[in-house]
Parts: sequence; structure tokens; C-alpha cells
Amino acid sequence: MIELKHALWELEKVTDAVQLDNFFQIYLGKKWLLNEEFKLLVALSPEEKKDKGAKLSDIKTQLTTAYELKNQIFAMDQINAQLEKDLVDISLDVADDRQGSYSLLAKVRREIEEVYKSMWFVIDYGHEIVTKYENFESVNIPLSHPATEMHDTIYLNQKDPSWQNLILRTHNSAHQIEDIKKYGVPLKLWSPGRVYRFDSMDASHDVMFQYAEGMVVDKNVSIAQFKDTMQKLLSGILWKSITIRLRPSYFPFVEPGFEIDASCPICGAKGCSLCKGSGWIELLWAGMIHPNVIKNAWLDPKEWSGFARGIGVSRLAAVRYGIKDIRYFTNGDLRFAKSFA
Ligand code: DAH
Repeated sequence: MIELKHALWELEKVTDAVQLDNFFQIYLGKKWLLNEEFKLLVALSPEEKKDKGAKLSDIKTQLTTAYELKNQIFAMDQINAQLEKDLVDISLDVADDRQGSYSLLAKVRREIEEVYKSMWFVIDYGHEIVTKYENFESVNIPLSHPATEMHDTIYLNQKDPSWQNLILRTHNSAHQIEDIKKYGVPLKLWSPGRVYRFDSMDASHDVMFQYAEGMVVDKNVSIAQFKDTMQKLLSGILWKSITIRLRPSYFPFVEPGFEIDASCPICGAKGCSLCKGSGWIELLWAGMIHPNVIKNAWLDPKEWSGFARGIGVSRLAAVRYGIKDIRYFTNGDLRFAKSFA
């Protein structure tokens, strides 16, 4: 009769699926050992049949269980081996050695930030979602002013009453009051970041552009100081010696207010296609902070005054690199991005 111990020992020696199959055929297969032994039972007496039959059944059960266990182990090994083979090693270095880099706009924005930091300005990005109050009323723009209407401003959700007050900032002047309160006075602040306007897009307008608001609040601030710093800053950023000129203009949050033109860095104020023949390019808006704004920041306008300026960083970058269409900055064209990487 088959010896269970021997059969199990044979099974233990089995190391792969083919050997396991052989084992099955020899011991458990229809034509082989166990079955042959069962067949022999017919010739035995009923007692012997009973006794031997029970023993054979026991051997069969034990061998079958051991066989199935081993079979499962092999199946698992096979699955694991396959998984190992299929594994994609994401840590592998790709043959391509391209590296990311700052976009042109980010580069220019950061460069200006460095200049302002070196002059001890605090840098604060503010937030892109602001209340109507922050964007307009806090800086002396009454809600009846045309700029507050839908054609200029992107409202988040007009239907839901809890959102009606929220808009995407149209300028970083929206943070003037918050920042004066946050940092206290005297204050030198530079607030760069994206702003949004409900504008139709063309070569010089986009619904989103990079803007920066600068502000100095102190005692005895003068326009002369401002003009000098601006001239130096622009000359540094535009890589040319720049002269600026101030033109009186109206902005509700400053008094007096100015539009500031820089001499064209491309033609040196002689007149070219970039400055449309005038020799000057409008780059900045500025003015002495309006007493109402100073009051909104809980300061006494007789004691404190200030200067604010807004600058279109996208425009500045376009002028510096002679880029005729500001939509290149954001349209994701890799040829453009790579040429400035
Ligand atoms: N916030 C204005 C705008 O986005 C620009 C501006 C004008 C900013 C005069 C200033 C300023 O700080 O003094 O159109």
C-alpha cells in the first residue's frame, strides 16, 4: 500500500508546476497509484475492504489537501512573478533631460520682487477672491462707479446670495486697507499677483494679467521720492536708462493721480512700432493716497500720507522682451515658453 509519509516527502521535493502535475498524475490521477489500490479492494473480504478502504480514503484526503496547498503556493508565486515583470518603475530616469523653469512672467515678477525686497518692502500676495467692499469702497470707489459694473468685474455667483458679494480682484489696490491694518505704519508694501477683468481679449488685453500694487505710507511722503525710485526701478527692469513722465489722471483712490509713461526702451524715445511712434509707453498708474483711504485704514490723514502705484507686470514683461501679443504669456505654446526658459 502507498505510504503516506513517502508520498508527502515526494511532494515536498516538488519545486515547480510541472513536477507538481507529475506528482498529481502519479498519486492522485485516475490511472495511477491510489486509484489502482482502490480497484484492488474488490478482491478483499468485507472487513478487510472496510479497513483498507478507510485507510486509503484517509491517505487520499491528506494527499489531496497537501497537493492543493502546494498548488496554491505555486499559483501565488506565478502571480507575483508576473506582477514583478509588469511593474513600471516610476523612479527610472527618463532619457529626456528637460527641466521645468519659471515662466517668463514669473521671472519678471520675481525680479521686481527682489528689487523691492532689497528696499525693505514687505511682499504680500493678498488673495484673488475679494469682497466688493475691499475691491471698490475701501479704496474710495463708490459702488455707483462704472468700474464696478459687470463689464469690468468678474462676479463669482450672482444667483446665490451668500456669494453675491464676492468677486475676482480687478486690482491689488483691493488689499491696501487690509495691509495697512495688518502691518501697521510706517509701511512699505509690494503686492504682486494675478488680477481679473471682464475684458474682450486682444494683443494687449487679457481677462487675467499679472499686476502689482506698491504702497508707501509714512509721514511727509513726497512725489519727488517716488519719481526717483520709479525711474531707477524701471531702468533696472528694462535694462535701459529710462526717463519717466507723469501725466495727471483720475483714480478715485488717489489725489492727485498720475499715469506714468516710460521712455520707450526699444527705440530710446525716438518712435517705433512698440511705442506706436510716440516714444513713450504707458506703464504705471500712481498717486498720493486719498485721505478717505487713509481714514478707512483708521489713520489720521493729517498725520499720515502715502504714495501708491499700480503696475501691469505682464505689460512690463512684454515691453522688456518686445512681445507684441500678451496672450503668448498664457496660451501654453511651448515654443514660446522654451525660448525664454
Ligand atoms: N488700481 C488701478 C487699476 O487697476 C491702478 C492704480 C492707479 C493703482 C493709481 C494705484 C494708483 O496705486 O495710485 O486700474
